[in-house]
Amino acid sequence: MRIDVLTAFPKILQDPLDESILKQARSRIGLEIHLRDIRDYATDKHRTIDDTPYGGGPGMVFKPEPLFDALEAIFRQTGDRTDARVIFPSPQGRLFSQEIAQEFAEIPHLVFICGHYKGIDQRVIDTWVSDELSIGDYVLSGGEIPALLMIDGIVRLIPGAINDLASAQTDSFQDGLLDCPYYTRPESYRGMAVPEVLLSGHHQKIAEWRLAQRIEHTRIKRPDLYQQFLEKEKEQLKKKSDAKQKK
Ligand code: ADE
Repeated sequence: MRIDVLTAFPKILQDPLDESILKQARSRIGLEIHLRDIRDYATDKHRTIDDTPYGGGPGMVFKPEPLFDALEAIFRQTGDRTDARVIFPSPQGRLFSQEIAQEFAEIPHLVFICGHYKGIDQRVIDTWVSDELSIGDYVLSGGEIPALLMIDGIVRLIPGAINDLASAQTDSFQDGLLDCPYYTRPESYRGMAVPEVLLSGHHQKIAEWRLAQRIEHTRIKRPDLYQQFLEKEKEQLKKKSDAKQKK
C-alpha cells in the first residue's frame, strides 16, 4: 500500500508518522508514505501556492497549477490512477467513519490533498478528488490533522499493520457498538476491585459480560448508535423467522 500526502506543511505530519503504530506499519507491511511539499511544485521564485478568491472575500485559495503538477507527478510515478482514491479533507465532506476506514484499508493507493485557508481551487476537486471527507462538524485551520487522523484510522486496519488485528476488530464501532471496559493487575487498587467475572477463567461468561457491557455503554453514552443497533437486531430476527417459515 502507498499513501501520498500533498501539504504545504509537511512538518505537521512528519513526526506523528514516524512514531508508534504508523511507524510500525511502515516497516511491517512495507507501507510507503510520501509527503510532498506543495511549494516544490510552485513555478515562481517566491514559491507562491495560493491567491485571493475570484469574486472577493477574505482568505486565500490554493492555486490549481501546483496541485495539478504534483498530482500528475505522483501518477506518473505509480501509473495506477484507476485503483487509487484521492481524498480531500474538508468540513464540506461526508463524515469519516469506521466503515470508510475499513473500505480504504483495502485500497492500494491513497492520495490526500491538504488544503489551508479558504480551501483549494474547485477545478482541482472536480478533476482529481474522489472523496471529500470531514472529520466532524467543526472547522480546523487545515487538512493536515484530519488527514493524519484518517491515515491512523485506516492504516491500523490493514492486515499485518499492528500486532493484533483481532484486537482492532473488537474496537468500538467495528460492529456498531462501543467497546467494553478493560482492567489489568492489580486485582484491587485503592479499594476498587476488578469485576469478579473477569477473574473466573470462564470464557463464555466473560464474553457474555463483555457484550452486555458494550450494549449498556452504548445505550447510555450513544443513544443514537444504540437505536441503530436495536434496529439491526430486529432486522436480523425477522430474517431468521422468515427463513424458518419458508422451511
Ligand atoms: N479541514 C478543516 N476542517 C476540517 C474538518 N472538520 N474535516 C476535514 N477537514 C477539515
